[in-house]
Amino acid sequence: MSRKNSPRTNLVAAGRMKSDQPHVVPVPPERASTVLFPTYDQFTAKTRPFFYGRFGTSTHRAFEQAVMGLENAEHILLAPSGLAAVNFALLSFALPGSHILVTDSAYDPVRYFCDGYLARRGVEITYYDPRLGGHIEKLCRENTAAILAESPGSLTFEVQDIPAMANIARARNIPLLVDNSWGSGLLYRPLDLGADISIIAATKYIAGHADVLIGTIATNDAQIAQKINTNMRLIGNNVSADDVYLAHRGLRSLAARLDVHGANGLKLAKWLERRPEISCVIHPALPSHPDHALWQRDFSGTCGLFGAIFKTEKVEKIRAFFDALAHFGMGYSWGGFESLAIPVWPQKYRTAVPWEEAGQAVRFHAGLEDVEDLIADLEAAFAAMAEM
Ligand SMILES: Cc1ncc(COP(=O)(O)O)c(C=O)c1O
Repeated sequence: MSRKNSPRTNLVAAGRMKSDQPHVVPVPPERASTVLFPTYDQFTAKTRPFFYGRFGTSTHRAFEQAVMGLENAEHILLAPSGLAAVNFALLSFALPGSHILVTDSAYDPVRYFCDGYLARRGVEITYYDPRLGGHIEKLCRENTAAILAESPGSLTFEVQDIPAMANIARARNIPLLVDNSWGSGLLYRPLDLGADISIIAATKYIAGHADVLIGTIATNDAQIAQKINTNMRLIGNNVSADDVYLAHRGLRSLAARLDVHGANGLKLAKWLERRPEISCVIHPALPSHPDHALWQRDFSGTCGLFGAIFKTEKVEKIRAFFDALAHFGMGYSWGGFESLAIPVWPQKYRTAVPWEEAGQAVRFHAGLEDVEDLIADLEAAFAAMAEM
């Protein structure tokens, strides 16, 4: 019996050139605006793998192929950032006069797009409790055109019951979109759970080196792919071949990096749980997380991104903590090789389920450093905090 390769194995060669001639291992960045066709028939052929640089070159096709394997998808579209990927997908369904459902835990710039762009063009937006599961049905209307989920929420880490939501969405013919950046395809496959579209900010773990912005949109529905692709083309979407090259290079080591990010993050989370300065650690892989059972059911592992709530809200103490950190950098994004820690304020965004936790919320990203050095760094930062 032939053995089916693990997705981890597939990442190593996915999208690579096959040739009986000597050839290089990486798929090189093929930069182009003009593509030349040697004959009239080739120029006018109905299907052409690429025909103008804006629509990508063989570099793009190769990366798309690789992400198809990762997401178990038949169609992949590329966007110049994770935010653009989410917003292009939403834009393709949210027409004037329609209504969309957006999780209250959505990445906040997605909310700004909904409120600042879609709403001004006649789209009604309802933010919903990410833990509604199948009860999302009561919020669906005749004109509901899309449901956006993000699991886990990237600031507040609620895990959503995608299979239950997909049952409702399918019965009502509403596309269910899932932001899958945390799971990055290797830890979570929303399409296998019934979602129509899975979107990854490949900026994070796929590219993995904090040097690229790129987004992927995966679906198994040819009509959906066509609809989003048409919009992206009309708007003039383009992703640079250099960025695709870097993302594809990052993808090769995704599995190995995620192992370390996940193990380091979990160790830090458990260590923080025992600290007197912390009232709560929010990590789906901890048994204390309210959605731990859902996470166990639907995810195959964890990445390095999680949250914690400090008991104090005193700015001078919080400042002392952050200013004392040496290994944890303070900066946006996550998924790169380095550890990060930032203060966050979910109460500024939440509307459906107001954020009522007392104390400063902090988001941690565990990088690839030795975890004992990271713990020592946090210990020193807590000591600095105590002196204030
Ligand atoms: C969950 C989630 N989705 C999307 C994005 C947007 O990705 P990008 O920074 O590539 O636009 C982010 C960025 O932090 C994110 O955390």
